[in-house]
Amino acid sequence: MSLTAKMSSLEHVKQSLERAGQDHVLRFWPELSEEDRDVFLQELVKLDLKGLKDHCTRAAKAAASTPRILDVDMDPVPPEFMGSVRKSDRKSLTEWEDEGLLHISRNRVGALLLAGGQGTRLGVQYPKGMYKVGLPSGKTLYQIQAERLHKIRELADGKHGSKCTVPWYIMTSEFTLAPTEKFFEENNYFGLEPSDIIMFEQRMIPAVTFDGKVILQGKGKIAMAPDGNGGLYQALVDNNILEDMKKRGVEYLHVYCVDNILVKMADPVFIGFCVTKGADCGAKVVEKSHPAEPVGVVCRVQGVPQVVEYSEIRLEMAELRGPGRELVYSAGNICNHFFTRTFLQDVSEKFQGQLKQHVAIKKVPFVDTCGSEVKPSKPNGIKMEKFVFDAFPFSRNFVVFEVIREDEFSPLKNAEGASTDTPTSARNSLFALHGRWATSVGAMLLDHHGNNIPPTASSESAGDCPPAQCEISPLVSYFGEGLEQLLKGKKLVTPFILDKKMAEKLQAQQHS
Ligand code: UD1
Repeated sequence: MSLTAKMSSLEHVKQSLERAGQDHVLRFWPELSEEDRDVFLQELVKLDLKGLKDHCTRAAKAAASTPRILDVDMDPVPPEFMGSVRKSDRKSLTEWEDEGLLHISRNRVGALLLAGGQGTRLGVQYPKGMYKVGLPSGKTLYQIQAERLHKIRELADGKHGSKCTVPWYIMTSEFTLAPTEKFFEENNYFGLEPSDIIMFEQRMIPAVTFDGKVILQGKGKIAMAPDGNGGLYQALVDNNILEDMKKRGVEYLHVYCVDNILVKMADPVFIGFCVTKGADCGAKVVEKSHPAEPVGVVCRVQGVPQVVEYSEIRLEMAELRGPGRELVYSAGNICNHFFTRTFLQDVSEKFQGQLKQHVAIKKVPFVDTCGSEVKPSKPNGIKMEKFVFDAFPFSRNFVVFEVIREDEFSPLKNAEGASTDTPTSARNSLFALHGRWATSVGAMLLDHHGNNIPPTASSESAGDCPPAQCEISPLVSYFGEGLEQLLKGKKLVTPFILDKKMAEKLQAQQHS
């Protein structure tokens, strides 16, 4: 940028900040080096300066008001809009799976990963998907997901003689884009076509003090945060993702969050169920394990489908039980959603402005008026966020699909040492599931003394006795299929890894 252009940008920024009541943002400008000024100016130019005043006032007002309790006028989702793996017969499940595989084979299905979060609770400085969960194979969450995508394509191709692709859209943020790109490149895109992995960035918005002032994180840096996973709808527009989907012929999207080690990528059963029901929008749920479990509840509020977040429901509502002692609000959101492309288009283009804003009160590091950096010991800042499920109220045909927790949901939220959702619990859930797959086809799991280890129903029921370490590569089996011919009657000394190489060896033994 020429000097004159720079001066005029700076003048424009200055005036806009003044108009928004935010002139403190340039307080340390005179102290900045030429280089830091350039970087800061570029950042400021990118800000939505017109909307800044509104954003700051809205954030301060929202934080000052009593938190909204959403559970008034709440109803469970009516049974006619619900499907359930547990309650369905084998025939229906197979029909849904076949329907899903058909759409996959015709390139109509895409997966979309929400990976713009900062993983604060887990406490790592890099994107959560890069986390190694401590499996014997050393795989990261990203690798597990990539391999499941690979396998589901293979299964669809095997059934329909196709050569399909399932594009993988990955929404990142300023924090996660560069490291995610680098990680995928270094790992050779886990064997997937780089052109089928489309990374894009969600917007960032400034964190604000309780009196409505933008927080300065450094003398030349505003404290910015991603705009929540509901920033997806704006990001789809900003990055022409919907056009890309249209060009590829993608009609159905499986949208999911990064941390569930058991996620069924582009799950054909879920997709088939939603398509068969003519849904434009769907949510996968599991039965809540206990009333206070920190998962959102999928329900209806004033007759409209919605998720009431764990922070928005009173305990007495969460604890409500029906005649058979079952929880009335038991549909726990696992952040696995189905959307048609046209529904996403409607939300992104028509309803964007009507999406709710949620307030998060956080500790945000800042520079004080003397320019010293401060790490606050108590919350001092407001971050405004949109949630991905806030699109549900705009659905014309919303369905819910309940799956079995032990088979499909074990999120990695917290660092080791926490009571739930840790690397150990995630790993154990995977071992327990894979152990059940192996034993259900007639294999025996042995410890290193040769003693039989019984399969565990789940990682939690294992208590002090963790499940045997049995890890089956997604490249060998997506959801337990194809194992009988490899493992029937086999005694497997654990830790046991069934990877592609081992599968080929076992296959060769069968034929010899
Ligand atoms: C989320 C759900 C909650 C559900 C739980 C199940 C939302 C808003 N809440 O809660 O209802 O019960 O998962 O595990 O969906 N992300 C972005 N950009 C952001 C913020 C987050 O892409 O700005 C991504 C994260 O990387 C993650 C996903 O969204 O993949 C979920 O975010 P997280 O903050 O972990 O949500 P939870 O509070 O766990």
